[in-house]
Amino acid sequence: MKVILASSNDHKVEEFQVLFKDSLEIEKADKIEVIEDGTSFFENAHLKAKAYFEKYKKPVLSDDSGLCLEAFPLILGIHSARYKPELASYTDKCIALIDHYKNEEVNNFNSHFSCVLCLYISEKEVYFFEGISEGKISQTLRGHQGFGYDPLFIPTHHPEQKSFSEDSEWKFENGHRAKAVQELKKFLKEARLS
Ligand code: IMP
Repeated sequence: MKVILASSNDHKVEEFQVLFKDSLEIEKADKIEVIEDGTSFFENAHLKAKAYFEKYKKPVLSDDSGLCLEAFPLILGIHSARYKPELASYTDKCIALIDHYKNEEVNNFNSHFSCVLCLYISEKEVYFFEGISEGKISQTLRGHQGFGYDPLFIPTHHPEQKSFSEDSEWKFENGHRAKAVQELKKFLKEARLS
């Protein structure tokens, strides 16, 4: 099946093309400004998919993701992309987060990444798939691979307790996005859509 990716981010287009190479044909589309004012990753993924479907009238794949902090549920989460907009780089945003834990004297570093995919085939056929990575927030920046908050995140199940940024290959195969993709692939196979 051919789907339009509801994102103009070239990294995402390439990443999803690789992840779905045997099951979905991913097409790039022109950017549409979508106001992501949902209250969950599901609602925001749905808002993006619906907007692209209404414009292109073709099946759409969208995603919404973020890092959720157990000690500070109101920062990051669905607002992960909008944390400290005055800081230009993710390195600075990661350092600001480490400082936040220190300043608040909080020792609960439990966190998880979530990725929700929305497959919008038609108005009556809308499907969601979620992948979660459990882990802890590191109190130093670790590694140089990946993007966003990867240098701060130590996944629980990594055999050597490396951060996502220290082992992006492991993340690519076992991370939250990979898990959501596996769920969607399973669905495509069962529904004979791939
Ligand atoms: P969006 O899904 O494109 O809206 O991105 C949400 C935000 O979460 C961005 O700020 C990303 O940097 C962050 N984020 C989402 N997934 C990851 C990830 O796998 N690693 C690091 N940061 C991520």
